[in-house]
Amino acid sequence: MTSHVVNESTVVLAIETSCDETAASVVMGGNDILSSVVSSQIEIHARFGGVVPEVASRAHLEALIPVVNAAITEAGILPSRVDVVAATAGPGLIGALLVGVSAAKSLALVWDKPFVGVNHLEAHLYAGLLDDPTLQFPLVVLLVSGGHTMIIEMRGHGDYVIMGRTIDDAAGEAYDKVARYLQLGYPGGPAIDKLAPSGNPHAVEFPRAMMHDGLDVSFSGLKTSVINYVKKNPDVSNVDVAASFQAAVVDVLCAKTIRAAQKVGAKGIVLGGGVSANSLLRSEMTARGAAAGFPVALPSRDMCTDNAAMIAAAAWHRLASDGPTNLSCGAYPNLKLDAVPR
Ligand code: KG4
Ligand code: ZN
Repeated sequence: MTSHVVNESTVVLAIETSCDETAASVVMGGNDILSSVVSSQIEIHARFGGVVPEVASRAHLEALIPVVNAAITEAGILPSRVDVVAATAGPGLIGALLVGVSAAKSLALVWDKPFVGVNHLEAHLYAGLLDDPTLQFPLVVLLVSGGHTMIIEMRGHGDYVIMGRTIDDAAGEAYDKVARYLQLGYPGGPAIDKLAPSGNPHAVEFPRAMMHDGLDVSFSGLKTSVINYVKKNPDVSNVDVAASFQAAVVDVLCAKTIRAAQKVGAKGIVLGGGVSANSLLRSEMTARGAAAGFPVALPSRDMCTDNAAMIAAAAWHRLASDGPTNLSCGAYPNLKLDAVPR
């Protein structure tokens, strides 16, 4: 592997198209965000109650060039100032990923600049570091998104150990499925987040699965409990059910993450992924982390959900350690956290 000289003035243009956000961002020096443009497809997919892959790919194709142009314009730079072009190479929807990877490789080729294919999961870890680059390793990162739920020990840049993960549904998936059952709208996470503070989190004591059993988590049983409870108690308030469901999810995530941090003597806890935009998770993790002696870094809400600034930050670090990615790099729908796209 050949490393590559990167420094505080290296400008990365990054593209993110792994799921239902078309995003582009210009970041200098690995953490100075000059622009971050996100065009969401939520309204397009809402009527289907979830992301339709073929529809997502077509929408990325339409949105990508205007989004990239907007990112360059908002950054106040000329295209010639871009030193590196990066794109999410996986994991994600294959057709959606291909749009961003193909566009980034074409720009790199035409501009004669290096290309970096980025691992989307690694980029979510960098979202927390973007806001506070002074964080010290080892860190424990709770990565909670629509497709993944993992507790990760981050020992250094590119050095990860997965300590725990969901054995069934991801946390965001559980939010989305419960919200859909309660007819609260799509995506479910923000809908429940908004509603839950008006409800009683102790109205129903939903199970905290595997609470005292290692660092893995499980949310499928909780989702079934919610459905069974509502079937048996049709008059129960949706708001109380949402609040009680959310209390159970957050309780398990906080307890397990703090236990992981204690196990490895972490210097801090970092949240990442769409569910880390959740108000209760943010406040509970901050309070319980502080009580256990761990500072908790919360990415700004815009950095929790999919964006391209985190892709640029991860690309900057990967370029320094591994050098550019070959232009024969493909799109990898099932890329694992520790895999570097080639
Ligand atoms: O990281 P992300 O934008 O996309 C993936 O890589 O999956 O995460 C999307 C997930 C969805 O399941 C959405 O419902 C959830 O994050 N989410 C939230 C909140 N905002 C987004 N879950 C709980 N509370 C929120 N405020
Ligand atoms: Zn994501």
